Amino acid sequence: MILVRFTSADGGRVTEVQAHHGARLLDIAQTAGQPLEGTCGGQLACATCHLILSPESFAALPRPSAEEEDMLDFAPGARATSRLACQITLPATLDRLEAHIPPA
Ligand code: FES
Repeated sequence: MILVRFTSADGGRVTEVQAHHGARLLDIAQTAGQPLEGTCGGQLACATCHLILSPESFAALPRPSAEEEDMLDFAPGARATSRLACQITLPATLDRLEAHIPPA
């Protein structure tokens, strides 16, 4: 199991959940009540699943694809450690992941 911690955009609320390896981060976030629309259902066409990862979590995951990086250009408030949650499958090598909800 992987501990996934979501921090709200204002930093005031932290939600922690346990997730299985192989689960998709967007599904975990939505199940945990996080405000990620995921409008396109993972087709890399909306960027409404944007999360900002901690530097440690970003480094622990495989690099984003060129298509994901292109779509992140459209994500408001994107930073160097931004990812699209629909593109992240939790790897067996991970035991925790930290993500911040971007500012609206
Ligand atoms: S759900 Fe649309 S890009 Fe991730």
